[in-house]
This record gives sequence, C-alpha cells and structure tokens, in this order.
Amino acid sequence: MDTTKVALVGLGTVGTGVAHLLLDEADRLARHAGRRLSLAWVVVQDRDKPRDIHLPRSLLTDDLSQVTDDPEITAVVQLVGGLEPARTIMIRLLESGKDVVTANKALLAEHGPELFDHARQLGRSISFDAAVGGGIPIVTNISQCLSANQIESLHGILNGTCNFVISRMDGAGASYRDALAEAQRRGYAEADPTMDVDGSDAAQKLAILAHLAFGARVHWQDIPREGIDQLQTADLQFARELGYRIKLLAVAQLVAEELELHVAPQLVRHDSPLAEVRDAYNAVRVVGDAVGRVWFHGLGAGRMPTASAVVADLVDTVVGRAAITFRTLELWSQRPARVMPRDNAHVSSRYYLRFDVVDHPGVLAEITGILGRHKISIASVIQHETGESAEEIVSLVVMTHTTTDGAIRQAVGEINVLEAVQAPTRVLRVLD
Ligand code: NDP
Ligand code: HSE
Repeated sequence: MDTTKVALVGLGTVGTGVAHLLLDEADRLARHAGRRLSLAWVVVQDRDKPRDIHLPRSLLTDDLSQVTDDPEITAVVQLVGGLEPARTIMIRLLESGKDVVTANKALLAEHGPELFDHARQLGRSISFDAAVGGGIPIVTNISQCLSANQIESLHGILNGTCNFVISRMDGAGASYRDALAEAQRRGYAEADPTMDVDGSDAAQKLAILAHLAFGARVHWQDIPREGIDQLQTADLQFARELGYRIKLLAVAQLVAEELELHVAPQLVRHDSPLAEVRDAYNAVRVVGDAVGRVWFHGLGAGRMPTASAVVADLVDTVVGRAAITFRTLELWSQRPARVMPRDNAHVSSRYYLRFDVVDHPGVLAEITGILGRHKISIASVIQHETGESAEEIVSLVVMTHTTTDGAIRQAVGEINVLEAVQAPTRVLRVLD
C-alpha cells in the first residue's frame, strides 16, 4: 500500500485526538484512504510541555518550515486557534503546496473569503467540517448531501459550552460560574470563553453555514447576537413552568426571500428535539424544499468528536474528494441570498417577556395596556404570590401570541421607563 506523509500543527485538545487516531487507528484509516497516512511532524509552540499523549519526541518540532520545506507532505491539519498566528500559518502552508484541514471557525468566519480565494488561486483546498458542530458532519451534509435542495431554514444549537452551561444550570441547579469552569476543564470552551458565552462562537459558525446553505457571505459581527452571559436561573425556571426549555439558538431562515440571521437564547417547546439536546451536544434542524425537515445531532465539542471530523476531512483530502467539494463552493456562492438588514421590524415570533416590577396596584394594567396599544396579544401570564409587605419586587412573565419584533421593541421601550419597572425587560423569542 502507498504511503502519504501528513503533518499536524497544534497538539492541544483537538490535535491530541487527531494524533491519537492517526497513530493508533492507522489500519482503519488506511482502509478508507486506500493508502497509509504517515504522521511526519507535529508542530507545537512548546516542545517541552507535558502532553496527554505519548509521541516519539522526534515527531515534535516548533519549526513550521520542517513541514513547509518537505514536498512529500501534501496534506496538513492546522489546529492552532484564534486569528494570528493561525492565519499566517495557514497561508504559509497553502503557499508551500499543502492542502489544509482546520477546525478554526474564528479564522474562517473572519478571513474565510480571502483564504478560500488564495487557496483556489494556488490550486489547493481547505476543509473545515469540524469548524461547525464538532463531530456532526453538518458542513459535508449541507454542501454535498443536500445539494438538490433550496435550504429554507436552519436552526442550530452550535455552541457546546453554552449548551453544557444551560443544561447544568437547568438540570443540576449549578451556578453559571461553576458550570462554565467545568466546561473549560472538559476542553469544550475556547481559549477565551467570552467568545462562547457572548454568542460570538455560534455567530461565527452561523456565518459559515449561511455561506454553505445560502451562498451568503456575511461577516459574523454583522449577525445580531446575544449570548447566555445575561441568562438568569429565573428565566430557565419560568420557561419550564410554561412547558419550554431555553437554548442558545443560531438561526438562518428565508423570510420573503431575504435571509434573516440571529443568535440568541430562545424558548423551545419541552417536547421538541431541540429541547432534548443536553450537555456539550449540538443539533441542527435543516429544512430543504425537497427533503423537508432533517435533523443532525451529536457532540459539538471535545477531543475525540472533533478529531473524528478533522480526520474524516484529512482522508477526503488525501483521496481527492475535498478538492472537488472545495471547487464547487465557489460556484455556489455566485448567487447569494440577500441578507435582511439588522433589526427588521417585520420579523415575527411569539415572545417571552419578564418584567421585574414593584408589586403595587395597577402595574399589571399599565403593562398590559401598553402591550395592547401595540396590538400585542397575551397568551399567558405568570406572577408568583408574594408576602403581604407592600412594595416587594416581583417578576411578571408574559407570553405573547405571534407579533412583530418592531411592536415588541416599541412596547418594551415604553414599559422600561415606567416607574414600577425595576430592570430592563427580558425579551426572548419563542420557537414553536
Ligand atoms: P488548544 O488551545 O487546546 O491547542 C492549540 C494548539 O496550538 C496547542 O497545541 C499550541 O501549542 C498550538 N500552537 C499555538 N501557537 C502555535 C504556533 N505559533 N505554532 C505551532 N503551534 C502553536 O486548542 P483546541 O485544540 O481546543 O482548538 C484548536 C482549534 O479547533 C481552535 O480553532 C478551536 O476553535 C477549534 N475547535 C475546538 C474544539 C474543542 O472542542 N476544543 C471543537 C471544534 C473546534 P502548545 O501545545 O505547545 O502550546
Ligand atoms: N468552544 C466551542 C464550543 C468548541 O463550545 O462549541 C466547538 O467549536
């Protein structure tokens, strides 16, 4: 059997999993690739750092030119996170004639178009299935298996850290801080977990999916986004009471031929598949005009699930499938869907509203009066009984019938300045 030399740049959480598969499952991979994949170099920053894997020391280097200068190495896995030096490393690899596999969504969401164009000009490919959904083959499915469809919508739980934190707060009653620390210990979170919890990581993944599914080239920072960093246990409990769960959703949907995109915590019905997605699992619901509704579910973060997707891309690269897919991506993005402007007032949904108000006579009437004037119809209301002492602060929760984002924004703007209202109103969309 022939042998192809490959290399790995980065030996952290994911890189360690990739090295493990390449070294310990070499026969399995050879059967899929029709050739043996020989790991020639592992490039790291610090050769002396203790590792979770036993590697021959001769494989480790901190000198990227060991890889770029070796013409026999044709495919390289690049698992350095963030923008720099990841971008420079990627360019050096491409320019030295390597096809590249990466899981770095931050890099692709920021510099994807430029890197893709550069790779094409050089006749090289970039594969990135692990960049979205960890172990779920969502990139391959959207760009290959669903190509007969016009994708109509895509609803995803795309950040394992956030889903883990919400699951722990909701199920086990953990504090936000403890749950996040646990997600970091397990290797789910980014080096800077702010990117996870403020919705940036999910927005980066959504930007990549919007390109694949709708041809749209949208910068992730232009996607309206809200994370879980402001989420309160009270909202998780009220949602349960109403028969819902809260999930951080990344949404791309065609509304009157425009592409509406957002990332935000939303209420999903307790009996829907999205509500069942727990811990670091991710899920994506795709609706295509031919196939209908399709679900993808699996671990969205962590060493071996992510390594599974990376190594599959490496096999595809070595056998030549990756180059074909990569070429067709360019054709696909020639007729992109038009992206809806931010804060479009006509987007419609049901809404969950939580008002923290002073418990005195007439407050409920004031609030419902404002909602009524904006033609927002109320589906249900919760206020828990308080003690008899006057002027206690209580949460008043309202679920609306379907209304528009514009109506909600105007009404909430008026409600927030009422004297009885003690904090900005919590507004969450509801996915029924
Ligand atoms: P880690 O931080 O665990 O590892 C990063 C690796 O990059 C380290 O081995 C580090 O070397 C190496 N490195 C950093 N700078 C250089 C450099 N200049 N030259 C060579 N090597 C360098 O990251 P992860 O494995 O968690 O993530 C890698 C990528 O995969 C990221 O883009 C991340 O977003 C993405 N991803 C991660 C997932 C996860 O579950 N963790 C899931 C899906 C995607 P050293 O070890 O010597 O410090
Ligand atoms: N930090 C990311 C997450 C890793 O938690 O989903 C997977 O991309």
